[in-house]
Amino acid sequence: MEAPTWAAYAAAWVGTVALLLLSMYLRRRKFNLPPGPKPWPIIGNLNLISSLPHRSLHELSLKYGPILHLKFGSFPVVVGSSVEMAKIFLKTMDVTFASRPKTAAGKYTTYNYSDITWSPYGAYWRQARKMCLMELFSAKRLESFEYIRVEEMHSLLKELYKFSGQSIILKDFLSTVSLNVISRMVLGKRYLDENESSIVTPEEFKKMLDELFLLNGVFNIGDSIPWIDFLDLQGYVKRMKTLSKKFDRFLEHVLDEHNAKRKGVENYVATDMVDVLLQLADDPNLEVKLERHGVKAFTQDLLAGGTESSAVTVEWAISELLKKPEIFEKASEELDRVIGNSRWVEEKDIPHLPYIEAIVKETMRIHPVAPLLVPRLAREDCHVAGYDIRQGTRILVNVWTIGRDPELWDEPNEFCPERFIGKDIDVKGQDFELLPFGSGRRMCPGYSLGLKVIQSSLANLLHGFKWKLPNNMKPQDLGMEEIFGLSTPRKIPLDAVVEPRLPPHLYSL
Ligand code: HEM
Repeated sequence: MEAPTWAAYAAAWVGTVALLLLSMYLRRRKFNLPPGPKPWPIIGNLNLISSLPHRSLHELSLKYGPILHLKFGSFPVVVGSSVEMAKIFLKTMDVTFASRPKTAAGKYTTYNYSDITWSPYGAYWRQARKMCLMELFSAKRLESFEYIRVEEMHSLLKELYKFSGQSIILKDFLSTVSLNVISRMVLGKRYLDENESSIVTPEEFKKMLDELFLLNGVFNIGDSIPWIDFLDLQGYVKRMKTLSKKFDRFLEHVLDEHNAKRKGVENYVATDMVDVLLQLADDPNLEVKLERHGVKAFTQDLLAGGTESSAVTVEWAISELLKKPEIFEKASEELDRVIGNSRWVEEKDIPHLPYIEAIVKETMRIHPVAPLLVPRLAREDCHVAGYDIRQGTRILVNVWTIGRDPELWDEPNEFCPERFIGKDIDVKGQDFELLPFGSGRRMCPGYSLGLKVIQSSLANLLHGFKWKLPNNMKPQDLGMEEIFGLSTPRKIPLDAVVEPRLPPHLYSL
């Protein structure tokens, strides 16, 4: 047989290259991806994402449109930034996008995705949601805990009264009250009282929750570029591991105490959410067994979800009002007219306080606690708005952009509660222009509790006190910068002066 000539080699080589190019072309053509900037090798488009990702994505959506394709390292990400896109991702095609990406935070801080927030779509998560709906957040259960919310609210008002005329860091007081409310509802007592033979001090526990929120929201580079994950360049994974050990010590103690209380008692009646979870864990008929680590993961989710978000929202509301004293006046006028000056606001008064409700909605429009919601994951290849979205794509819905869309809102950057008066726009996941709790299958299961705590704290803070900026600071000098994590609080905690405005005996309740 004759040896192949150089011409045959060249032909084979050219043929291979042509085939490669053709297959690349066909692959590109096969996927009609949404528009977006060209990614760099290795980092993708991470160079375009600042420490305030919702703002960077907002800028990009102004350039590329309401559906945007990016790469975070090697992972495809699609961002929806309009009412239409939010509706598709969270309603029309909700089930396609009902999973969550696997992140280091889910792995290390939530018992390997055993909590509600980070567990993937499937029987375990569906069962968790059923537990939330039927047991943990049923209207009856929430009502049975109303006395706790009232007691804790009164102790906040009493505490603030002690600081009359002085300036305070409001967030410290707010997170104490939400932590107390949630720990009594979930754990059955203020586990974190100093005088208790306490396993964690309240200060340390608050730090743990702050760290949990931060680590669950950060952009951990290893989640986008898996092959450098082991380097833990930002040190986040190390912090996650340390934090999960601290939480585990605390949660083990909580479960041991609850089990000791239940032991040997026939027909034990659950008095808090951990009791409910332990009863469910004992149930042999559950579709998917709820293990001890699952009970710990759920408990941690409830503590975290219930503490930070409401405090952050109320702090933003008071900050906005300090910039616009005329809103204070209108709110006080409504409170004086509807409640009068001889009692505090109760939860059942809220439907009669439309201006206070409007302030809460306006705060959630401008300062959504989770501006990009929590990332979702495409469970299969699909089409959205004529584009292809591939299985495994991470989906972000930028509710921060939707809240500022000039097509939806007049003067979107102005804080103006009046825009909601007489309008039928709610925050409960049905009105896609205002989605602070998300919508659809993955919507926040704790929204009704969160809303109750926010509305009644804000109403009572405005009813019971006049608020001023310290040291003759002018409203325009109050900074409104934020930091981004799983929640988006003020960068610099609000410092404000409190003056009581009701008769003194009310503060000694
Ligand atoms: C101001 C109060 C709150 C706000 C603004 C808020 C916001 C959110 C948002 C935006 C999501 C993601 C929704 C999505 O992916 O579409 C979420 C999920 C969640 N929230 Fe909340 N939340 C609040 C209060 C609470 C409370 C009080 C709890 C529990 C005690 C809670 C527990 C959860 C849980 C477990 C999830 C994960 C749900 C899942 O993945 O299936 N949240 N929340």
